[in-house]
Amino acid sequence: MADETFLLTPENAREYLTEQGFLRADEEITMSALGGGVSNVVLLVEWQEPREQRWVMKQSLEKLRVKDDWRSERSRIYREALSLRRLRPALGPAALPEVIHTDFNRFLYIMTAAPAGSQVWKDLLLARRADSQVARNAGLLLAKMINASRDDELLNPDFQDRTVFDQLRIDPYYRTTAARHPELRREFDNLIAATLEIRTSIVHGDYSPKNMLVRGENIFLIDFEVVHWGDPSFDAAFLMNHLILKAFHQPVASRQFLGLVIDFWKSLYAALRPDAAPGLEAMTLRHLGGLMLARIDGKSPVEYIQDEATKDRVRKAAAQILVEGPRTLEDAVEIVRRSMKDEGRKY
Ligand SMILES: Nc1ncnc2c1ncn2[C@@H]1O[C@H](COP(=O)(O)OP(=O)(O)O)[C@@H](O)[C@H]1O
Ligand SMILES: [Mg+2]
Repeated sequence: MADETFLLTPENAREYLTEQGFLRADEEITMSALGGGVSNVVLLVEWQEPREQRWVMKQSLEKLRVKDDWRSERSRIYREALSLRRLRPALGPAALPEVIHTDFNRFLYIMTAAPAGSQVWKDLLLARRADSQVARNAGLLLAKMINASRDDELLNPDFQDRTVFDQLRIDPYYRTTAARHPELRREFDNLIAATLEIRTSIVHGDYSPKNMLVRGENIFLIDFEVVHWGDPSFDAAFLMNHLILKAFHQPVASRQFLGLVIDFWKSLYAALRPDAAPGLEAMTLRHLGGLMLARIDGKSPVEYIQDEATKDRVRKAAAQILVEGPRTLEDAVEIVRRSMKDEGRKY
């Protein structure tokens, strides 16, 4: 029976682990809340030596802790844990957490933590550490996920539900932005209709540098709460959008960041099976325009772009990509470059 009332905290987690048989009364652990999450309780549990075990406990919340009222069903945690289990054989044990325990009555699961010393890729990028091998690995990882979707019919049936994708992506990003930009309403409506038509692959749904924990060049991918069966170009565009927004944010490093976009894309394309994702490039660029604008004017704007002139440059490039529909990634990147230099067209 679902227990809506149990809220995981650093204080009761020890008791929970003991009750479930994961911890003896005399074992020493340290427990810390991991920051960053707005929609979940996420705790790190570390055992003292000699057992250097590190686990993460994650529980989904219904109401997201953001300014606007924004809700999502808690059962998304089931699909998150299930997708980790299903994808780990294809992506490899270094790329994903291992699921240790699930407790869907209490909307939580336990997984292994990323190796000690891992850093969130977003933090490295904001410190202008633009490592092209990490970008290539992000492309390779996505290609593996898309290819695995072709090979493994197990991935399909359990991820059909796209309610959470709608609640956390389509609605707050695309519908909200379209309402604030009536001049682009048609482009957004068509984009929403087109993406919902495509059902070819498992989609992470939050394929962002904030969910990639990097050690050396390895990426450990987390946070599959928006996972679903759908349109893989959403993931490709999501990642590129983050890299592009960082280029707008830090113009002195824009050449490196835009280089990462190309590195990511080339490595994704090179590793993709030819039949795996037809029409990926054109659809990725449509999402890219939509997502760029959404992270400026949607319900969840990026926190690091505050300056109005920068926002306007992003808006202009996003609108141009949405309206003109560039055919290749290089053309889209050129639009971005020009708008950074205030040379782009006015919409
Ligand atoms: N398996 C893990 N290993 C190490 N750190 C993790 C792990 N899972 C989550 N974290 C940390 O906790 C933060 C929040 O977790 P995440 O799953 O991304 O939740 P949210 O959906 O709330 O963003 C992450 O940004 C990351 O820093
Ligand atoms: Mg996250």
